[in-house]
Amino acid sequence: MLSEKVLSREQIDEAIERLAARLNAELAGREAVFVCVLKGAVYFFTELTSRLTTSVVIDFIQVSSYGATTESSGTVTLVKDLTVDISGKDVYVVEDIVDTGLTLADVIALLGARHPRSVQVVTLLSKPSRRRKEVPLDHVGIEIPDRFVVGFGLDFAEHFRNLPEIWEYVPQEEA
Ligand code: IMP
Repeated sequence: MLSEKVLSREQIDEAIERLAARLNAELAGREAVFVCVLKGAVYFFTELTSRLTTSVVIDFIQVSSYGATTESSGTVTLVKDLTVDISGKDVYVVEDIVDTGLTLADVIALLGARHPRSVQVVTLLSKPSRRRKEVPLDHVGIEIPDRFVVGFGLDFAEHFRNLPEIWEYVPQEEA
């Protein structure tokens, strides 16, 4: 069940505004490809990229994640691949949340093997206390404590992605 609102729409917008301003300052003259990690990052991705003032290429990748539990399995498989060539490009991987870091580490390795010029990570949320694999996070919106959250793209068993704010979700048996 939803227990408590963790981030309001205003707090989310403020974080995206801040990230976009930083990215706009460094994007000039770059051939950037923004990669949305489906499905969770999609709300963040559209809001972020629509605030960018230079033209960037966008693409989508999907890897398997949690399924219907709140724990990561630690192994990802590629569900949907990119359609553009990223070799020689500055790639920005856009994530909804970095928890253990296992998913992102795999995504970075996968994309890195295609010889991009650089790979950077932009994430709306980060749970640093849960990290099992150190991954370089270049642009972090908001750090949150170890709570399972849903809304603004984040799900529990595919539900709640469409909520406009971010809420804590507590599985029924723990509530
Ligand atoms: P990691 O591999 O543990 O870092 O988890 C990455 C993925 O797990 C994210 O892209 C999310 O899809 C999902 N995830 C991690 N924490 C949460 C959460 O609190 N709510 C919803 N999904 C989460």
